[in-house]
Amino acid sequence: MMIEDIFSDSFLAKAKADFNNVKSKPDLDKTKSMYLGSDSGVMKGFSSIPKLSADHRAEYGKNLNSLKSKLEVYYKAARESLDKGTDLPGLDLSLPGLSERSFAHGHKHPTSQVLSQTYDVFRGLGFSIVDSDEIETDWYNFEALNMPKDHPAREMQDTFYVNNGKSNLVPRTHTSGTQIRFMENNKPPFKIIVPGRVFRNEDEDATHIWSFYQIEGLVVGEGISMSDLKGTLLTVVQSLLGPEVDIRFRASYFPYTEPSVELDCKYKGKWLELGGAGMIHPQVLINGGIDPEKYTGFAFGWGAERIANIKYGLTDLRELWRPRFVFLEQF
Ligand code: PHE
Repeated sequence: MMIEDIFSDSFLAKAKADFNNVKSKPDLDKTKSMYLGSDSGVMKGFSSIPKLSADHRAEYGKNLNSLKSKLEVYYKAARESLDKGTDLPGLDLSLPGLSERSFAHGHKHPTSQVLSQTYDVFRGLGFSIVDSDEIETDWYNFEALNMPKDHPAREMQDTFYVNNGKSNLVPRTHTSGTQIRFMENNKPPFKIIVPGRVFRNEDEDATHIWSFYQIEGLVVGEGISMSDLKGTLLTVVQSLLGPEVDIRFRASYFPYTEPSVELDCKYKGKWLELGGAGMIHPQVLINGGIDPEKYTGFAFGWGAERIANIKYGLTDLRELWRPRFVFLEQF
């Protein structure tokens, strides 16, 4: 393109038509570089300005600027029309709309449904939800919770040990290790839940699975008592399973709570076990860097699958880990 041509009406008309005819992004880029790129007439015009005599420069520069603005308007219009998708290559606008095609609509997995409901209930009570790792060290999973290497309580939660000769890592058997991790980094008072997968060396059957989602609860503050534990758990269980549901505590044993209880709920006339709970053992508070003379607290843990099991009357827990739509579509 000769530099002189660029101020003609035909040049502008052709530029407009070229931008109008752009059909794709590469097309747009090509047209842009033709009219506005460094080799374009307009840009070459700009670089020729210093060579012009002083009295021509101002006039010529003004004309070039006005031409450039017009070309930019054409370019912008072409880009916007592409962005709207009206001219996208490969887009067939004659296809029937969504209402004429049938799509299967998915939904949350039943375990996720229970988890979401659980988060809502605890958030309503002012709890924070804390993330955690699925692989834990032996210290946090066992020792810091009063379970030294030879402690028989380890057998209740036999695990898959990962021993690479250097560190003692375990796929965590419960979420309770996060109690210590959280206490180390936070000053009481606090109320948290820690949801997450746990892993146990279980022989599978209809009521046992080797991995499940646990929900750990941890509350630490001044003057926290067993009645706070009971009140909290009653509120949560009734919110999840219905206001008519009752709960009871059975004396139990966990090395990291004292006293320890087993939590049951009475659902449709039957007592069902939900999980473990108790007042945090003073040594566990010390291991987490918290003064047991000043603070007390409670902890609890239960499985989301167990709540799903009760709520939905499942006959085989393993279904929750299978990708079987016949089962999952019921929820
Ligand atoms: N960690 C226990 C379990 O997995 C549950 C529990 C949590 C008990 C917190 C007491 C306190 O069975």
